[in-house]
Amino acid sequence: MNWLVLLGLVAFSECIVKIPLRRVKTMRNTVSGKNMLDNFLKEHAYRLSHISFHGSNLTSHSLRNIRDLFYVGNITIGTPPQKFQVIFDTGSFFLWVPSIFCNSSTCSTHIRFRHLQSSTFRLINKTFSIIYGSGRIKGVVVHDTVQIGDLVSTDQPLGLCMEESGFEGVSFDGILGLSYRNISFSGAIPIFYKLKNEGAISEPVFAFYLSKDKQEGSVVMFGGVDHRYYKGELKWVPLIRAGDWSVHMDHISMKRKIIACSDGCKALVDTGTSDIAGPRRLVNNIQKLIGATPRGSEYYISCSAVNTLPSIIFTINGINYPVPARAYILKDSRGRCYTTFREHRFSSSTETWILGAVFLRLYFSVFDQGNDRIGLAPAV
Ligand SMILES: *[C@@H]1O[C@H](CO)[C@@H](O)[C@H](O)[C@H]1NC(C)=O
Ligand SMILES: *[C@@H]1O[C@H](CO)[C@@H](O)[C@H](O)[C@H]1NC(C)=O
Ligand SMILES: *[C@@H]1O[C@H](CO)[C@@H](O)[C@H](O)[C@H]1NC(C)=O
Ligand SMILES: *[C@@H]1O[C@H](CO)[C@@H](O)[C@H](O)[C@H]1NC(C)=O
Ligand SMILES: *[C@@H]1O[C@H](CO)[C@@H](O)[C@H](O)[C@H]1NC(C)=O
Repeated sequence: MNWLVLLGLVAFSECIVKIPLRRVKTMRNTVSGKNMLDNFLKEHAYRLSHISFHGSNLTSHSLRNIRDLFYVGNITIGTPPQKFQVIFDTGSFFLWVPSIFCNSSTCSTHIRFRHLQSSTFRLINKTFSIIYGSGRIKGVVVHDTVQIGDLVSTDQPLGLCMEESGFEGVSFDGILGLSYRNISFSGAIPIFYKLKNEGAISEPVFAFYLSKDKQEGSVVMFGGVDHRYYKGELKWVPLIRAGDWSVHMDHISMKRKIIACSDGCKALVDTGTSDIAGPRRLVNNIQKLIGATPRGSEYYISCSAVNTLPSIIFTINGINYPVPARAYILKDSRGRCYTTFREHRFSSSTETWILGAVFLRLYFSVFDQGNDRIGLAPAV
């Protein structure tokens, strides 16, 4: 009996494909000099992405932020495989990497796809462009084999950038979107859909564990959930709609007082964003409440505040998810402490918060596309 149970467990865990993620620091390590840093932040801190096909703007995503810490993992493209480091991003649905034909200075600092060396490469007559704040990526849509660990998607649509700006000093090559497909872009079926439709994954589920303090140890898993990465029970929350990874949030509070999201709001669970972002007025109010002061594009705070400030509590579906001061206050390379609350410059009729890596380091997250829900539990 025990033996049978054990067998079952082994078989189950073998269906899960785990990809190690490496935690990377952005410009605090890679861009030196104050002016460069400020310019970098002004230009590129917030990611507004409009993806357009055939030159017409068809969609826009939220404004997001890839500063501070982010997490990259390896995938391969082509036959024989060429390796790329990508962000596994629940806030977008498209996969792109730089093309060897991209000769802008930004591209030359990244690994570029040599399509002439791939026997499975197929060109189609489609272009795409993505606008990130004032940065932009432009390129062509192609098809080729993409491999994530043992998962293989053949004839996968992806973007090859021919022109890119705004990605200097970041140590990832491209972005692998894990959000819902948008029927407006019928030619851009996301990789997760193809893996699901082709039966490559046993369950239409993926999950993230983002390590709190180590560079190694983070993982994204596909096809199931490894329960060793969280404590207690997963709490499920239905999506607002099966269109993106957003859920309804009840409120945000501190010391039992509601400080934001007072009428309920929308929370986008976003692995491609570093911090926690909200509307300007509400974020400024939180900075004021915790005693942070603005300097340039940052809000700084005394490092000793980590020991005295209360947790900020995000209540989702009746469950409290505290974010303690040691999670929302980080130290930069010069030893100064800054807060991880940001304003997003995203106007929307509903109050929207983006729960990025700051939140997801505390809470293991499961993205269940079969049931259109997100599961959260305290990470180990
Ligand atoms: C990705 O591949 C590179 C080069 O082969 C390797 O050094 C790195 O450790 C890999 N990263 C992860 C997160 O596995
Ligand atoms: C696409 O959107 C961008 C940013 O809003 C705008 O500057 C550009 O003119 C738009 N292009 C088209 C073809 O509508
Ligand atoms: C698909 O894109 C269109 C055009 O940008 C947008 O209006 C629509 O909301 C998107 N649909 C989903 C499900 O995200
Ligand atoms: C990049 O390549 C294109 C065509 O291949 C060429 O027209 C352009 O001058 C090149 N730019 C640089 C900066 O080398
Ligand atoms: C490619 O698409 C464009 C725009 O849709 C069209 O004008 C052009 O004729 C197409 N070219 C080929 C070779 O199909």
